[in-house]
Amino acid sequence: MKSSIWHPNTQMREWNSFDKIAKAKGIWLIDSKGNKMIDAVASMWCNVWGHSNLQLINAITNQSKKLQHSSMFNLTNEPAEKLADNLVKISPRMYKVFYSDNGSSAMEIAIKIALQYWKNFGEKKKTKIVTVKNGYHGDTFGAMSVGYVPEFFGKFKKQLFSTIQFPVPNKYRVPKGFSFLDYQNHCLEKIEKGLSKNNDIAAFVMESGAQVAGGVIIYPKGFQKKISQLCKKYDVLFVLDEIATGFGRLGSMIQYEEQKSIPDIVAYGKMLTGGYLTMAATLTNKKIYDSFLGEFNDWKHLFHGHTYTGNPIVAAVANENLKMYQKNHLIKNIQKTSKKFEKFYQELLEIDIVGDIRHKGMLMGIELVSNKTKKIPINSKKSINKIFFEEGKKQGIYLRTLGNIVMLVPPLAISEEELDLLLNRTIRTIQNCSSNF
Ligand SMILES: Cc1ncc(COP(=O)(O)O)c(C=O)c1O
Repeated sequence: MKSSIWHPNTQMREWNSFDKIAKAKGIWLIDSKGNKMIDAVASMWCNVWGHSNLQLINAITNQSKKLQHSSMFNLTNEPAEKLADNLVKISPRMYKVFYSDNGSSAMEIAIKIALQYWKNFGEKKKTKIVTVKNGYHGDTFGAMSVGYVPEFFGKFKKQLFSTIQFPVPNKYRVPKGFSFLDYQNHCLEKIEKGLSKNNDIAAFVMESGAQVAGGVIIYPKGFQKKISQLCKKYDVLFVLDEIATGFGRLGSMIQYEEQKSIPDIVAYGKMLTGGYLTMAATLTNKKIYDSFLGEFNDWKHLFHGHTYTGNPIVAAVANENLKMYQKNHLIKNIQKTSKKFEKFYQELLEIDIVGDIRHKGMLMGIELVSNKTKKIPINSKKSINKIFFEEGKKQGIYLRTLGNIVMLVPPLAISEEELDLLLNRTIRTIQNCSSNF
């Protein structure tokens, strides 16, 4: 099959062809030959209600008959206004919403707002960004700079702006000589030292609740809260990325609320539209927003805007999605359904190549190793992703691995029975793949 598409994150030499997904219903993706697969990655971590949900489809079609697109430059529209109100309402201490089309852009905007905030007061020194190692915030240049993952972005290192990075405690890989608790304290002490001795730091940027693409590293209790306190203490803006972890993925609507760590700026994306259309949002508190106010000639306004910013069809489906969260008590249901994962911990850990499992809410990372004692990551000449994808397909699941980690990120409203099926099929897939390593 000849195709003109260059696929993302894919060594194209390895793939002769790609299965064509023709339709989808609920958790099931159905290819052009009629084969069914469970969507174990919620179509890149964004699907909430499953596919072909009539309520969301109706929201799209109804709005598309009225107004398809009208710009946010000098104008506004009803669905975008309503959505901004809805987002502010559910986000403690947030005040304004800046729209964009994808998570990477939302983070670019967050970075620009944070840097300009200080300039708005004539504070010229505060120009540096602090981050944590192994974070991920998207694939554009600013997002790559703050979320530097060496394997992903090494080739662009020279073009990225520099950041100060601190380690994050990972219970499975605690450095020699530390207990896990000691290591957490050690990381926090390093962060405090860094913030206290540099008076040029504009903002601290991190994912909220967990690092997802960086290996499903779930922060220990209190870690994020402590960082938010340090930011306050040293007058550094606190910027949270909830694009992958908010809206129920980790079991709460607003992850920073659960972490008791109020940010100055927060970004949402992925699940915002139920996974049906593309939109992201950067929210700020009043202090930040007010700093951008002035006379025209003060040039304090934010120079940023995309063609489709605040698109009414996308905003309409996002509003419907939020309504459904409330009406169907989605967060409560996730908290109950996600307990199902726990039933499979033991069986997973008994597999030869499973070194660690990390789980919170509707996110599970299964770390694969070739030696459990030495915790050596599995390695292969072929891509691990392709090996698992092919076996997953045989078992009837669409799986993607990130490095040596199998990611389970199902649609949030998956039922207990469906989750049972997904986990059983995942276990079979890993067992069958284990002889490759
Ligand atoms: C935490 C986080 N931030 C930002 C992004 C980038 O979002 P997008 O792919 O929509 O640009 C991602 C994508 O996976 C993400 O996981």
